[in-house]
Parts: sequence; C-alpha cells; structure tokens
Amino acid sequence: MNTTPLTLHLELGERSYDILIGDGLLETVGERLAPLLRGRQAAVVTNTTVAPLYLERVTRSLAAAGFTVLPIVLADGEETKDWRHWQQVIDRLLEARCERTTALIALGGGVVGDLTGFVAATFLRGVPFVQLPTTLLSQVDASVGGKTGINHPLGKNLIGAFYQPRLVMIDLATLESLPRRELVAGMAEVIKYGIIRDAGFFQLLEERIDQLLNLERTTLGEVIHRCTAIKAEVVAADERESGARALLNLGHTFGHAIESLSGYGRWLHGEAVAAGTVVAADLSQRLGLCGEGDVARIRDLLRRTGLPVTIPAFPTPAYLESMSRDKKVEAGRIRFILVEAIGRAIQATDAPAGTVALALAANMAGTDRATPS
Ligand code: NAD
Ligand code: GLY
Repeated sequence: MNTTPLTLHLELGERSYDILIGDGLLETVGERLAPLLRGRQAAVVTNTTVAPLYLERVTRSLAAAGFTVLPIVLADGEETKDWRHWQQVIDRLLEARCERTTALIALGGGVVGDLTGFVAATFLRGVPFVQLPTTLLSQVDASVGGKTGINHPLGKNLIGAFYQPRLVMIDLATLESLPRRELVAGMAEVIKYGIIRDAGFFQLLEERIDQLLNLERTTLGEVIHRCTAIKAEVVAADERESGARALLNLGHTFGHAIESLSGYGRWLHGEAVAAGTVVAADLSQRLGLCGEGDVARIRDLLRRTGLPVTIPAFPTPAYLESMSRDKKVEAGRIRFILVEAIGRAIQATDAPAGTVALALAANMAGTDRATPS
C-alpha cells in the first residue's frame, strides 16, 4: 500500500527537514529525494539482516529517479558502530569516487543510522544524509534529531557529531518483519514521550496498546506521528541538549547502568529504559514529586506492553558507581530525569544518594532474574 504520508517539519533554520510517515514509503524514496538533492549518486548503507528485506525496493526506486546507487552492506550488530566500520564505509565511498553531492542513505535501525550519519558528517567534511529507519526505536527516536556517532571501547556513543538529515522517511510496513522483542523494546521509548510530555497520549497508549502491538495501521501511524512530533518540538527548541532535550533521557541513567552491569547485549536498550523508568518514577514519588497512582500507571502500562519493570539484582553501590560514570554526569553529580506527573518531567541533580538507593532496592528482581523477562 502507498497512501499519502503524514508529514512533519523539524524547524532548524537552514538545517530544517521533513519527516514523512506512511505505509509503503520505501518504494517512493527516489522520487521524494530527487527534488532535494543536486547530485544523482547515492550510497545506501544497510546490514545483512535488512538488505534482503528492503534494499532492492530502495535501490529500484532510486534508480527509477535517475540515481546511481552504491549499496554498502555491513554485518548486523552494535559492534559495527566503531572506527573499523566507519573506515570500511569511507573506503567504499572513496573507491567508488563519491563526491560532496553523493547522498548517504541509512536503511536500518539505530545502529546503521548512527554510523551512517557519522560517516555523512565526516566524509569530505559533510555530505547529504537521509534516514530510512526500520525499527520502532529508530522511527520514534534515533532517526530524528541529528545525533550521530560510534562507540569507543570505553563507552557507548562517545564519539560523534550533531548532524541533521535532509529527510526522514518512516515506512510503517517495515515493522512487520521486526522481531517481536525489538518491537516491544521500542515501545519503551514510545511510552516515554507520554510520561515526559503528553498525559493524553499516555492515556491513548493505555487504551490502545494491544492494537499498537498488532501493528494496526491507523493507531500505529497516529502514535508514531505523535512521538516524532514531540521529538521534533524538543529538538527544535534545544538541538544540542543544553536544556529540555535532556528530558528525552527519562529512565536512561538507570537503564545504562543495567546494560553496563549485565554486560552489553543481554538487555535491549528499550528493555533497560523501561525498568529504569520505573525506578525513576519511584524515585520521583519518594522525593515528593508525583503520586503513587502515577507510578502504578507507568509500571502497569510497561508491564502490559511486555517490558521488564524490575531491575536486575546487583548491589546498590554497583548501580551508583555505574551511574556516576554516565556521560551525562555534570561536575560529578548524577543528572536524573524525574516525573512531576504523567505528562510532565523535570531534571534534577540533587537527589540524595540514600533515596536513590531505596528506589533501586525497591524495584530489584530476585537474584534469579538478572536478565529481562
Ligand atoms: P538495531 O539497529 O541494532 O536494530 C535491531 C535489530 O533489528 C538488528 O538486528 C537489525 O538488523 C534488525 N532490524 C532492523 N530493522 C528490521 C526490520 N524492519 N525487520 C527485521 N529486522 C530488522 O537497534 P535499534 O534499537 O534500532 O537501535 C539501537 C541503536 O540506536 C543503539 O546503537 C543506540 O545507541 C542508538 N540510538 C541512537 C539515538 C539517536 O538519537 N541517535 C537514540 C536512541 C538510540
Ligand atoms: N535519544 C535522545 C535524543 O535524541 O536526544
């Protein structure tokens, strides 16, 4: 199916761009991109899982619009977000004599998007970049807002650039092939937008979570549209995260500690964010911000979605130590995103360690559950 897409505009002056959301959009990439670009060469970066599913569709559409296409297919996995693969992509671009007008198109999830965006930001000091996100997480979060980068052996996303795409095209149909666990994990970021910014949206999710998980198109389109609209508003107001953009990190400080203590790869990012969001909400209640009812609703919606709502059992000091190494620590103080009420979040750096420890302990699973369930 290929109907008129929902369109959003992210306003960032000369770096502004559109975000299109619809069913079957990949088949129209060429015709939509051609008016935006001077060149007619495009490198499509993807991976071995996504290529057999969608690469031909994209290549055909680009060729029909007059583009010469260079496909670059990487291995699948977070490990490809590194210097070695950055160089591998650059080598391919140089061998193919790509120029400043060559567009770099990311076809895949957040891993492909972050790496391709960073190559686009650095190759020949910057070439046009396009996002074709194919996971729920990358559709509602990673593809919008211009954070690009790679990992360092000492930590995730430590090398990168803010570099905005020229266009984001979200094809809802690609979610049909996404493994259920990845879909559910992406839902944690969807729920996050309701908690930090929109109580009505949170309620809609409570009412329609089953339709959403069944990929019912009207609900799915509406929900992804609302998430990207919130993200676009936040990024337009604070592109480089000097203020409100940090609210998008709800649950992430605890979530990163879960990922790091468990060993990367055991918990999906969204799963760790879900459990981290429960701790953040519980901490907010202990600090006298939100009410018990809000915490219960957050926990309940995450649980109904199929997400973990308890953190794995590691000693509380290990959590505090891990969180103190987060890249968002400022002057040695851990920055928490707290919930005032569903629909309203704030930043705080003054949560007492004792209260944080209580919130961690109260939401810890038994020792038999160190992996998400
Ligand atoms: P991912 O890119 O690893 O994709 C998850 C899995 O799904 C992979 O195996 C992938 O090959 C597969 N896949 C992708 N699309 C598919 C489809 N349509 N059908 C079947 N399989 C498909 O993971 P992700 O959750 O999309 O992204 C995680 C990455 O995003 C992390 O590196 C994280 O740091 C980054 N991230 C970036 C931002 C940002 O603002 N730039 C925000 C959040 C996360
Ligand atoms: N994923 C958080 C951000 O883009 O700022």
